Amino acid sequence: MMVRDSISERTSRRMIVVVLTLFLLQGLSNGTFAQETGKSPNTLEKAFPSASKCKRCHERVFEEWETSPLARSIHSPAFRASLDMFLASPVGKDKAQCFRCHAPHVREFPDQVQHFIDEAKSGDPLLDGVACAQCHLIKQVDRTKHPPEPTYDIESKTLYGPYRDFVPNLAHQSMELGLFQQSDLCLNCHQSVPSAANLGKTNDLLGGWDQNKAVKSGKECQTCHMPEQIGESANGEKKRKVANHTFPGRVGKLRQEAAKLDVQTRVEGEKTTVTVKVQSLVPHSLPATHPAWASLLLDLDIKGKNLKTVFTDKRVYGRVYQDSKGRKTSFDFEAVKVLEDTVLKAEEMRVETFTFSTPKDTKTFDVEVTLNYAPLTGPPAFIQRVEAESSRGSMDPVFQPIEIVKYVENIPVTK
Ligand code: HEC
Ligand code: HEC
Ligand code: HEC
Ligand code: HEC
Ligand code: HEC
Repeated sequence: MMVRDSISERTSRRMIVVVLTLFLLQGLSNGTFAQETGKSPNTLEKAFPSASKCKRCHERVFEEWETSPLARSIHSPAFRASLDMFLASPVGKDKAQCFRCHAPHVREFPDQVQHFIDEAKSGDPLLDGVACAQCHLIKQVDRTKHPPEPTYDIESKTLYGPYRDFVPNLAHQSMELGLFQQSDLCLNCHQSVPSAANLGKTNDLLGGWDQNKAVKSGKECQTCHMPEQIGESANGEKKRKVANHTFPGRVGKLRQEAAKLDVQTRVEGEKTTVTVKVQSLVPHSLPATHPAWASLLLDLDIKGKNLKTVFTDKRVYGRVYQDSKGRKTSFDFEAVKVLEDTVLKAEEMRVETFTFSTPKDTKTFDVEVTLNYAPLTGPPAFIQRVEAESSRGSMDPVFQPIEIVKYVENIPVTK
């Protein structure tokens, strides 16, 4: 009896301590931006609150963003391996370079670049990559610079966004900024890369964005990559127009809108000709060629008797770079020249012709055409490095193709 009492007494005392502690912690973390105590400097964590701080009130946005590639911009084995290659290369002296877009808060804290490198190399960084504050503290983007330069406002504790009629809240100031509905915000990271500055005018990932049809018809990156929906912009607020933060691209439904295939097969006795019209529906270059190995693959597969493949061929849409020693390279930071450029330009139609011997001993054959985002390619040492960095080795998702569109038709072999 006595023993039990004292245990329950201790338990309840401990409960009180726990509750009090929680209460205190809650109080301390009430401000989204950690409280300034006296003249303490604006630290990395204070200036750029982590996404988990925003989650408390912006659960919907947080959950969408969490599934997006942006949330993993310093996490992938391919990033780690290429960061290593860059830092070890003769051009790798500017250690912050990769982080300027992959974890852009480095811009405000250049003396902490080693911390960013260590975090990325740990494989499981606690540091955010491209998170909420990394976009919503951008006050201006200077498009006259190449790449365009953002200005961060880390003094005023104001979060910039699309609403003029925002509901005031206790965690942060809000302010409407037209920039959030304009491509400029995105172009600061998506237009060109400093590592390919050597390439001059050809260092243009999207292909003359300003001259393109989408822009003229009033479409911005957000129209397609942050589609409008109706929902809560903050927990418990009334529903209104919000923007999808999953950033559909290689992942997500938008992929179905990337391209159309039109396939014609002509059997002429011994010879068969397949003509594939690849119609890009994208208002910018596809693929964007950073990282430098990013490419699309068009695969043709002819299946004859018993569905055995009797002929295959492919086309690659991407870029081949040359380094200063005249060798081919997979890294834009080593590139001095574009050797080959087969990227699909905005809404381009590419016509490919394949000729092969008509399959024998069969009444019909299958024509299979697939357009994919290609798996990672590169020098063997680099591939091995990526495999070693990944917990899934050669099964890492970067080694898997991502299907964009597939076409299959059964063709009769007529006499
Ligand atoms: C601070 C730099 C930065 C800004 C600003 C930025 N992005 Fe990105 N974005 C990235 C990085 C880095 C990745 C690659 C993440 C990864 O895959 O590791 C990325 C990936 C993406 C992807 C996925 C691409 C794919 O291959 O699937 C889309 C879509 C995208 N961004 C759209 C946008 C849009 C739209 C905006 C503007 C509203 C924007 N981004 C602003 C840096 C940025
Ligand atoms: C100007 C902005 C910018 C800079 C600087 C930059 N990147 Fe990127 N990076 C991006 C964007 C945007 C994407 C997403 C592109 C896409 O999916 O089309 C990306 C994608 C990648 C990817 C593929 C996604 C992934 O995480 O596996 C790798 C790898 C990568 N970058 C490595 C680097 C390295 C290494 C450096 C430094 C040499 C670097 N980047 C510098 C903007 C940048
Ligand atoms: C790559 C830049 C980028 C990142 C990262 C990002 N946002 Fe946004 N956010 C935007 C843009 C651009 C808009 C306006 C889109 C529009 O109106 O077309 C927006 C809109 C919003 C809005 C108002 C509309 C809505 O959807 O509720 C809120 C709130 C918001 N963001 C919060 C966040 C939070 C919280 C995070 C992190 C979990 C985050 N954002 C990450 C660029 C970004
Ligand atoms: C205490 C709750 C709370 C926290 C924490 C919080 N917000 Fe908000 N935020 C709100 C409310 C409420 C609104 C108003 C929503 C509306 O008007 O529909 C808002 C609006 C916004 C907007 C839209 C501003 C505009 O004018 O367009 C953005 C962007 C935003 N928050 C980003 C963030 C980011 C990034 C963080 C984390 C650093 C964060 N918020 C943390 C409650 C919060
Ligand atoms: C009219 C719609 C539309 C607009 C506007 C648009 N895109 Fe895209 N984008 C697409 C489609 C469709 C794809 C290909 C399918 C996919 O990957 O989801 C794509 C693919 C991408 C990819 C991934 C493919 C790759 O090769 O890396 C990135 C990154 C991207 N867009 C960035 C942008 C940026 C930045 C802007 C603004 C400057 C923009 N897009 C404007 C429709 C659009």
